[in-house]
Amino acid sequence: MRIKSKILIIAGSDSSGGAGIQADIKSVTSLGSYAMTAITAITAQNTTGVKSITPIPSKEISNQIEFTSKDIKPHSVKIGMLHSTQVIKSVIKSIKKLKLKKIILDPVMVAKGGAKLIDDKAILVLKKKLINKVDLITPNIPEAEILTEIKIKSVLDMKNAAKILLDLGAKNVLIKGGHLGSNRLKDIFVNKKETALFTNKKIKTKNTHGTGCTLSSAIATYYGCGKTLKKSCELGIRYVNNAIKTRPKFGKGNGPINHLNSFIIEKKFR
Ligand SMILES: Nc1ncnc2c1ncn2[C@@H]1O[C@H](COP(=O)(O)OP(=O)(O)OP(=O)(O)O)[C@@H](O)[C@H]1O
Ligand SMILES: [Mg+2]
Repeated sequence: MRIKSKILIIAGSDSSGGAGIQADIKSVTSLGSYAMTAITAITAQNTTGVKSITPIPSKEISNQIEFTSKDIKPHSVKIGMLHSTQVIKSVIKSIKKLKLKKIILDPVMVAKGGAKLIDDKAILVLKKKLINKVDLITPNIPEAEILTEIKIKSVLDMKNAAKILLDLGAKNVLIKGGHLGSNRLKDIFVNKKETALFTNKKIKTKNTHGTGCTLSSAIATYYGCGKTLKKSCELGIRYVNNAIKTRPKFGKGNGPINHLNSFIIEKKFR
């Protein structure tokens, strides 16, 4: 099979393989592309929770981004867990230095089991300095609440939060509805010109470990292959939905989804 595009992933490692860098590599690969990585932290976790987090020094994160991208230029970049102010600043610097384009930011803040993955000062820096430098941000509802300082209880609230994020400098926003209580899940894509609502039936399962990481790396892959951002979101959501539907029931807690459930990008569109 011919490799469709090259994607750089900047994110944390999940030893259990369901989320983080591992989910990203699996998603990019399943969608027919080539994954490169810059690891920001190492977590020891399983489906029941996070045992420990070891941050990688920011200089080492920059080394991974810069040395890799200098040699193999990525078509798009997915950014996940950035745990500190210094790491965020280094990543911004490296992106600028290497002139990296087509960047998707998943502003990871809390793991599904409740462990906090970023400190408060870093959240502020992410909000002020990073979201205006990427092409798309993909917060879930709790993350969108923290970034916008509003409560989100409905689709209308999601739309309002997305508008606030645009006002804060985001170019495109996808707010993920996985945390809303209804039985129809809605993800909303918004930019200054258009709004799109993607609706799916909520699948009744606790095995949704890594849905967010998987979605943002799938979006980055489609986007790197030349699809529009809106189309990339639509296709990424479909990929995640199929992956939840065919989940393997591993582990005693929030189990992983099925990354192998890919539908290949058939047409030559780049
Ligand atoms: N039970 C479910 N059934 C169907 N789709 C779901 C379900 N849970 C999440 N999704 C979808 O998965 C995608 C990721 O959304 P979610 O809100 O779970 O992200 P997240 O909270 O960032 O995930 P993570 O906990 O992995 O960080 C969205 O497209 C959402 O609609
Ligand atoms: Mg998430």
